[in-house]
Amino acid sequence: MRRTTDPPQAARSLADGRLAALPTETVYGLGARADDPHAIARLYAAKGRPADHPLIAHIASTGALDAWAMAVPDYARALAEACWPGPITLVLPRSPRALDAITGGQDSVALRWSSHPAMQEVLDELVRITGDPAIAIAAPSANRFGRVSPTTADHVLTEFADLPDDDVVLDGGPCEVGVESTIIDCTGDHPRLLRPGAIDTADVERITGLPCTTGSTVRASGTLESHYAPTARVRVVTGDEIAKWGAPSDDARTGLLALAEVPTPPGLVRLAAPDDADAYARVLYAALREADALELVTVLAVPPPAAGIGAAVIDRLTRSASTAQ
Ligand code: TXA
Ligand code: MG
Repeated sequence: MRRTTDPPQAARSLADGRLAALPTETVYGLGARADDPHAIARLYAAKGRPADHPLIAHIASTGALDAWAMAVPDYARALAEACWPGPITLVLPRSPRALDAITGGQDSVALRWSSHPAMQEVLDELVRITGDPAIAIAAPSANRFGRVSPTTADHVLTEFADLPDDDVVLDGGPCEVGVESTIIDCTGDHPRLLRPGAIDTADVERITGLPCTTGSTVRASGTLESHYAPTARVRVVTGDEIAKWGAPSDDARTGLLALAEVPTPPGLVRLAAPDDADAYARVLYAALREADALELVTVLAVPPPAAGIGAAVIDRLTRSASTAQ
């Protein structure tokens, strides 16, 4: 895999059926043309992802919504109008255009319009090359299945060093949000939260005027109990536990991830000290990767408060701490 800073080059790679890792405001995605089953098969193979785990189709306008989805409920349109381009993915009844290859054979499709200007440029160029105004890029997070999502082009290059040089990563700098998009199941009579993100349930309820519930029956792989896992063992702990932390009894190396207000006890390796939940989300995945680079055995993580994006950070920490398969 080769680095580029030129969006049209990434678009040409995609048009030719190659893979292109692309920056979004949430995390980097590993992209393939959503209408190219061969490219999508390569994408699944590169990620090591089971074929029945569906992908998000990235579009570049709300107009493309009706090309990929059918029977779009009013509340889903309200979410698209209010939040796109932005960090929210809408799961909708699929149109015939959505191939089984991206939906995992389900009767719904996940759609997102990202706000990252480089992603927008790639899609605009792909529309120009193909002449298809609703062309989409299927892109899961650019990490091996079950591992930590990438928030920089360097993270992507580390994950996919073995891919051929015709596959590119478009370097658009570090991601602004840092955790994956909020996913809302819009196939029922009201919104259901599948994955928390920067847009929280209170936002969804305010925008739609409807209750946003959890516990959808739709499958989502980011909702597996164990996901986003580094090699180091993650333990979610309270600030009180850290305050009472004694010196480690052996030489096991232990890292600490917590808001800046939590002081570092002696013997712990401070991985990050974000000022608030937004900053916590931004540094979370880089900190987990840093723990592995330092060959730490354990990471103690004190979660931020649950308001806003805090709920998404708690969700990811809990899953990265899970040893369930
Ligand atoms: O922020 C993000 O959403 C990033 C960037 C690259 O856009 N993408 C991302 O993709 O996180 P991925 O594949 O790692 O996670 C997509 C999630 C998975 O949990 C998948 O199961 C779910 O979306 N999903 C996709 N299509 C779905 C569908 N039709 N019904 C339910 N869940 C779906
Ligand atoms: Mg993922």
